[in-house]
Amino acid sequence: MHQKRVLLIIGGGIAAYKALDLIRRLRERDVRVRAILTKAGGEFITPLSVASLSGEKAYTELFSLTDEAEMGHIRLSREADLVLVAPATADLMASMAHGIARDLATTALLATDKPVMIAPSMNLQMWSHPATQRNLRTLEADGVLRVGPGSGDLACGEVGDGRLAEVMDIVAAVEGFFAGAVAAPGPSRPLAGRRALVTAGPTHEPIDPVRYIANRSSGKQGYAIARALAALGADTTLVSGPTTLPDPPDVFTVRVESAREMLAVCEASLPVDVAVCVAAVADWRVEDDTRQKIKKNGGRPPTLKLVENPDILAAIAGRANDRPLLVVGFAAETEQVVDYAQRKREKKGCDWIVANDVSPETGIMGGDSNMVHLVTADGVEDWPRASKADVAARLAERIALRLGETAA
Ligand code: CTP
Repeated sequence: MHQKRVLLIIGGGIAAYKALDLIRRLRERDVRVRAILTKAGGEFITPLSVASLSGEKAYTELFSLTDEAEMGHIRLSREADLVLVAPATADLMASMAHGIARDLATTALLATDKPVMIAPSMNLQMWSHPATQRNLRTLEADGVLRVGPGSGDLACGEVGDGRLAEVMDIVAAVEGFFAGAVAAPGPSRPLAGRRALVTAGPTHEPIDPVRYIANRSSGKQGYAIARALAALGADTTLVSGPTTLPDPPDVFTVRVESAREMLAVCEASLPVDVAVCVAAVADWRVEDDTRQKIKKNGGRPPTLKLVENPDILAAIAGRANDRPLLVVGFAAETEQVVDYAQRKREKKGCDWIVANDVSPETGIMGGDSNMVHLVTADGVEDWPRASKADVAARLAERIALRLGETAA
């Protein structure tokens, strides 16, 4: 088999500098990399650095007569086994979706007869914009492969989807493609045909029409898990308590307020193959929340009688006829994390518990990273501290592996 060849198209964007590391990593794996740097890409990195790392001329202009004589754009796009666009900007994706050829990069993309993989990178709003999502669907329907984007801190200062996938994840996707692991069209979707249910966020338990009991959960980890499951192809329903987060793309999101509403929507969403209960459900609600606002009554504060809320995780795990194949719970603890998690797994009847330490000094509650232990019947795995998106991706992969052991 001949040496694998990648035509790398480097779009403009702050993540363009990561393309340099990408070239290095691909070459380490004996992949030959020839690169086209778009005009915007050239604002961030130089053709010289691209050429030095790839060991080949970096192509930049469509109408360079020398280039056309030496290597026409058609040949450039055909003499590759894979065309990889990284970073793929919103603009490049739009051009690709609409067949616009206005420079060397877009012309090569239109002229190629080879598989194309994109690694999108852009601002969160640009990524979630209906136009970009529409273009993405067009590209996926055209058989374009995709890796990422990830979620996390963006260069623009916002937090969310749109970050270029980690370089090693792009490398893995390319290797997977060459190994035939990624079946074209579309990225690897081991959860295609599976249904997933995720709960996330806090619940609000009414005291009266204007007051409620709540907690500090942001919903970030649950949303990331719903997104990660959907990215692997699962038909995913997210049942979310009140949060400030936008609906994740490709996820059917249902917004609820209280624990009882959350339970009702979850039960109505069954059957599913996997349920992941991430919500920080309020343990108690006020026994009789009044229909009228409670008034200050001659100086005597009211007494609120609390009653326990239904346990959604235990209810799903205990379903007789339609229990999901895999039920995953979370345990937020502030001490004896693994110990309590193991007990919680048995008490709630779920298969796995993802345990995390939410002591204030960890900054995990409401923060963007997480450090978890996966507690299963077989033992405990300590995962390194990582972004909530990465924890979600890893968990989704594990879920895919586990479900892969059982026929769809
Ligand atoms: N959970 C649930 N419904 C509830 C309470 C908790 O579905 N009414 C789920 C959470 O989504 C999570 C798991 O149960 O997956 C653990 O929740 P946690 O608050 O950590 O534990 P508790 O069950 O509340 O136990 P304790 O307060 O004793 O730690």
